[in-house]
Amino acid sequence: MRIDILTLFPEMLEPALRIGILGRAIAKDILTVNLVNPRDFAHDRHRTVDDAPYGGGAGMVMTCPPVFEAVESLISKNSLEHVVLLSPRGRKLDQNLVREMAGWKDMVLLCARYEGMDERIAETLVTEEISIGDYVLSGGEAAALVLVEAVSRMAPGVVGNWESVDTDSFYHGILGYPQYTRPPVFRGKEVPRVLLEGNHEAIRKYRRREALRATWIRRPELLTNLSKEDLELLAEIGVHLPPSNKENLP
Ligand code: ADE
Repeated sequence: MRIDILTLFPEMLEPALRIGILGRAIAKDILTVNLVNPRDFAHDRHRTVDDAPYGGGAGMVMTCPPVFEAVESLISKNSLEHVVLLSPRGRKLDQNLVREMAGWKDMVLLCARYEGMDERIAETLVTEEISIGDYVLSGGEAAALVLVEAVSRMAPGVVGNWESVDTDSFYHGILGYPQYTRPPVFRGKEVPRVLLEGNHEAIRKYRRREALRATWIRRPELLTNLSKEDLELLAEIGVHLPPSNKENLP
């Protein structure tokens, strides 16, 4: 997978792309992340990338020419099939969208700064606008990093052990189960006994039940399309949902 990121602040993203799972995937060439600065495509002496908004108002707006030229410079490397603008008005990112994007061969991510980009960029170049949540960041860079982390995690070969993706919160539509490690007792609090006893089927059931419990307590609206076993596990913790439970959630 290839991801090109257009940003006026590549130095904000560079260190994050060297760390952890993402850093390793890039080092191993499983993933290519290329940072492009639209300022390098500005032709005036001051390398201007912004201007005052028509109609007046606060702040500055990113101008069309350097952004268009920067994106067009990627044509030989990227199909430009997916040009994503990070923006609070976009489709909200969730694990379903992440999974869909993990199937893309390449994408260009546009990070806006100031009061945003000239609307003609969204109208002409952008194929999708994506928001990482209902709040406003000062720029798209942090959002682009969220997207790259989430999407690359689902791309083949990035996470060495697929089991750790398989047990992520949301991967199967519900929250993840709680994890424990040594010591077995810490300040009087014990690790659940079942995890120490080596009975794999009992551990599987315990984990599924605890994932369902966490979801019931924190995000009950996610509990849809449950299997017969899920309904039985919920009943064990005193939650009795009918087979079609959509209408019965608090
Ligand atoms: N840029 C500013 N706020 C944003 C958000 N919530 N999501 C994506 N990009 C943004």
